[in-house]
Amino acid sequence: ADAIKEKMLEPLNKQIAMELFAETQYIAIAVYFDTEGLSALASFFYRQAEEEREHAMKFVHYMIEAGATPVIPGLPAPKNGFASAQEAVELALHHEMKVTESINNLVDLAIENKDHATDTFLRWFVTEQVEEVDSMTSLLQVIHHAGPHMMWVENYVRQLAAKA
Ligand code: FEO
Repeated sequence: ADAIKEKMLEPLNKQIAMELFAETQYIAIAVYFDTEGLSALASFFYRQAEEEREHAMKFVHYMIEAGATPVIPGLPAPKNGFASAQEAVELALHHEMKVTESINNLVDLAIENKDHATDTFLRWFVTEQVEEVDSMTSLLQVIHHAGPHMMWVENYVRQLAAKA
């Protein structure tokens, strides 16, 4: 490792694990919505899963570019099967909040270790997490308002996809 400070390596590897875990968790959530016939919500979470893979790969490529060797982790099993849309999206929001905390801790550590390269690299994720927590919070609110009318939620998600 050249550009990346030694103390950053283990936490960066852990972040790769977190992003890859989010990928699998979002596929599991998408599968739940797919089997419930809620195709817009399913697509939304399949897409989120792809984004999580992209996040993980940003860390992998950054570490290699900076002369470090990422260690690819094994992962715990994601939760499969949910009692309701609310339960599934609450889990997603909870995970995004954990990721935000983890990214913020990484930034703190980079600053502490005067690792400017990693600090700068992480800034994109700081912004991204604000967006992800916001979009998951909004989705959960829409689900609350919709009550049993899940087609309203489907329409909301379809409109989001059309705007993206
Ligand atoms: Fe990569 Fe949604 O955290």
